[in-house]
Amino acid sequence: MAAPASAEFPVATPGVAVAADYTSASSITVVVTKRRPLDPVDYAPVDLVDLTDVPVVGEPRLREEAATAYAEMWLAADAEGAGFVAVSAYRSYEEQRAEHEDYLTRYGRHEAERASARPGHSEHQTGLAVDVNNVPAVSFSADFGSTAAGLWLAAHAHEHGFIISYPAGKEQVTGYKWEPWHLRYVGAENAKAMRDSGVTTLQEFAGVEASPDYG
Ligand code: DAL
Ligand code: ZN
Repeated sequence: MAAPASAEFPVATPGVAVAADYTSASSITVVVTKRRPLDPVDYAPVDLVDLTDVPVVGEPRLREEAATAYAEMWLAADAEGAGFVAVSAYRSYEEQRAEHEDYLTRYGRHEAERASARPGHSEHQTGLAVDVNNVPAVSFSADFGSTAAGLWLAAHAHEHGFIISYPAGKEQVTGYKWEPWHLRYVGAENAKAMRDSGVTTLQEFAGVEASPDYG
């Protein structure tokens, strides 16, 4: 006789969805927002790899599964004349802290908080997020969204397991301005399910609270 499924340890049955894990730092569906820091706050993934065979700036790293999907996505985009450059991917707690400080110095608190996460609150610290650009430069603009690469990603990233975490018009949900360059890996099935649902943010899809600020 099959062991009964326990609520704590759901048994994966073919064809039956098991609830996604939106909480564990190492889950590919972890929801990280201004109100949902990583636990532990200095979490670092153990399976980071370099992005290889794709255009990069520096030595961007993603978790292995995300890196493989990214390379496949880039090939598909490049074949359609919509290639892009990976300019920033995994950032440690310390790297995110330094970047956030830099934003605060350059833009002041109000604008910095609309564009840069505090350490422990960034998808980049999960090793599942990557910023891309048309050129090898770390200066990002919403104009990217209307370039060949930006349009291609908006239409096709989900086919490769990526979502655009901070869509236009969702600042009251995400706490961030539109970032057409910020891609987050959630896995192909989850990205497709999100697309099919018409819900554009992971946090709404997961049913977690909006995070216009740190609360
Ligand atoms: N730019 C995004 C919000 C980050 O800093 O993670
Ligand atoms: Zn980003």
